[in-house]
Amino acid sequence: MNQLKGLFFSNLTDLDIPLFSDLTYPIYQSRFRIFRLGPSSPVVAVGVRDGENPIGLGLAELDVQTGLGLLLSIYVTPNFRRRGVATALLQQVESESSRRGCRSLCATFERDQRHVAYERLLRRCHYPVPVPRSLVGHAHGVRLLEAPWMRHSILPKAFQIFPWKNLSSAEEDVIRSHEGRPQWHPPFLSPFNTGWAIEPLNSLGLRNRGEVVGWQINHRITSDTIRYTATFVREDLQSHGLAIPLLANSIRLHIETSIDTFPKATFVIPLAMKRMVLFVRHHMQPFLDELNDSVESWKKLEQG
Ligand SMILES: CC(C)(COP(=O)(O)OP(=O)(O)OC[C@H]1O[C@@H](n2cnc3c(N)ncnc32)[C@H](O)[C@@H]1OP(=O)(O)O)[C@@H](O)C(=O)NCCC(=O)NCCS
Repeated sequence: MNQLKGLFFSNLTDLDIPLFSDLTYPIYQSRFRIFRLGPSSPVVAVGVRDGENPIGLGLAELDVQTGLGLLLSIYVTPNFRRRGVATALLQQVESESSRRGCRSLCATFERDQRHVAYERLLRRCHYPVPVPRSLVGHAHGVRLLEAPWMRHSILPKAFQIFPWKNLSSAEEDVIRSHEGRPQWHPPFLSPFNTGWAIEPLNSLGLRNRGEVVGWQINHRITSDTIRYTATFVREDLQSHGLAIPLLANSIRLHIETSIDTFPKATFVIPLAMKRMVLFVRHHMQPFLDELNDSVESWKKLEQG
């Protein structure tokens, strides 16, 4: 499709998956299992080969209904870096996404040392200056147990915490029907919207008088890491101090039962959740290893 100093770029098919799947994050490898690759797949996968050897992979996931897409990952093996391979790869992902009906592609990343090259790659490919959208915290080991709020947060008597795996399908239907309604959760805090399996170990729900009114939803994103993805308490109950006991119970379950298996945790807090952001900055940050901005940049694609 496209040559760069003897390298061969091509859209991947299902047959290529075993060769290329190591060239992306484990969490995105699951995308290969869900979708079949091909000219009309919502997953765009462009591979780069040096001879027979896979040396680069670019992945994007498209929503054909809205025309929006998410750039999932761009990877080039170390020996081939800094010679324009990722630039050509990203351009190929963009043109293929556009061909499949995508009008805008969103790149997101954590602003830290690990993403310096990626940020420059995006700039070189004319992505607008990225804007912050959430905070991402990283914790390793048991240090969070030392936080005073881990020991002293108490759930008011009228509320009960339950394992999310015990949610009934009737309750799930009710939550889905509430999405976006006054007092209820915006789509980005939905327990159901990521397409990844909810972590059964410490994802929790919150009930009040038999009704589900909140949740702490987590995902296992690598073999050693649990991501705390969505904390939500119904808006009219947010002054009752429920989110912190919910989060503390979830962390305690993780640390006390499985810290040897999953020694790492990441916490995602959208900036729109202003009270949680303040809590994280003042009360959680001292017990975290890192706290970074997660940023996003949307690029309008040229329509081919
Ligand atoms: C990020 C990555 C894909 C870049 O690949 P690459 O083929 O080296 O990129 P290119 O040669 O096309 O260079 C693109 C831009 O990044 C810059 N860049 C590349 N590596 C860099 C580094 N280590 N430090 C600083 N800038 C770097 C280049 O200088 C260029 O910017 P410029 O035009 O302003 O000089 C590659 O480093 C990689 O695979 N990293 C690991 C995976 C990763 O972090 N992916 C991004 C998140 S999904």
